[in-house]
Amino acid sequence: NTNSLKSAYQEDFLIGTALGSEHILERNEKANQLIKKEFNAITAENIMKSQLIHPDVNRYNFNLADKFVDYGLKNQMYIVGHTLVWHSQLPNFVYKIGSPDSLRIFMKEHIKTVMGRYVGKINSWDVVNEALNEDGTYRKSIFFNKLGDTYIKEAFELAAQVDPKADLYYNDYNIEQPAKRKGAIALIKKLQENGVKINGVGIQGHWSINSNNLKDIEDSILEFAQMGLKVAFTELDLTVLPNPWDLRGADVNQRFQEDPKMNPYKDTLPDSVQTVLANRYSELFKLFLKHRDKISRITFWGVDDHHSWLNGFPIPNRTNYPLLFDRTLEPKKAYQSLISLK
Ligand code: XIL
Repeated sequence: NTNSLKSAYQEDFLIGTALGSEHILERNEKANQLIKKEFNAITAENIMKSQLIHPDVNRYNFNLADKFVDYGLKNQMYIVGHTLVWHSQLPNFVYKIGSPDSLRIFMKEHIKTVMGRYVGKINSWDVVNEALNEDGTYRKSIFFNKLGDTYIKEAFELAAQVDPKADLYYNDYNIEQPAKRKGAIALIKKLQENGVKINGVGIQGHWSINSNNLKDIEDSILEFAQMGLKVAFTELDLTVLPNPWDLRGADVNQRFQEDPKMNPYKDTLPDSVQTVLANRYSELFKLFLKHRDKISRITFWGVDDHHSWLNGFPIPNRTNYPLLFDRTLEPKKAYQSLISLK
């Protein structure tokens, strides 16, 4: 049945999307019809991050998170909690915490309260997000600086206690690349050797139409699966725009400003690039299908091009086209290419 992505890939893996508040609040009827038709898994793009769900020491804001979870339950979707421990999008009060013990208390209270609220409802959690540097060493985050790498073990141990049935993931970007992958393998091995429960690894998948990384991705799937982990691609999108970090030269800082050269497809994406995007998605999904027994889920980081974070990152106000649905919520050639693989 190729009427939708989720039915086309039903026997293979879950097909997910990230939801922003507009979707959670069901403000756009066409978008919500599409989400329900195409996807069987959802991740909260922002509203479960500590800055939003835990804005002050003793204050939580569960309003949108509750709606997000209800949305998933009502539509029989697999629900992903994103994310419990991350150095980014933290509330301000966390930066004012002085002692390691106080930071540990914050982290543990946060996990207990947020995860505890949705026991039996949320299927899997990104327990720790982005703990590594590109060279595979630990990121010098506020958590690492104050607690050392043991915060990772403590977070996973507690998560396993709070909801013993939830799947627990380590999630990060670029961990398909060899050096960072090595770091991820070491991080996870250390948990496993200490008897700490971890079910899976999330490879974010923020790639480009120019990435040439199929071998790295395949090696990663095999190596992580070999460790007994489920492999998920948790935040898939493919930028079609130039990457300022790729550019060399004196004007590199300028490239982070709004510069027309960095925003070449302001009005429309040429057909030739649509085709490259479609081919690239198709190559990726061929590889995912080859390893379908090792892959639990593929989640796109957003529903349509208009709602993609890549319009604003890493340069503000660009027009990007990284997803399967266009700005009017119509399926793109990339969508067709994934349907026609089945
Ligand atoms: C992004 C969101 O998409 C943006 O809306 C927000 O402004 C910043 O965060 N890695 C992650 C995600 O784990 O949580 C990030 O999401 C993208 C990178």
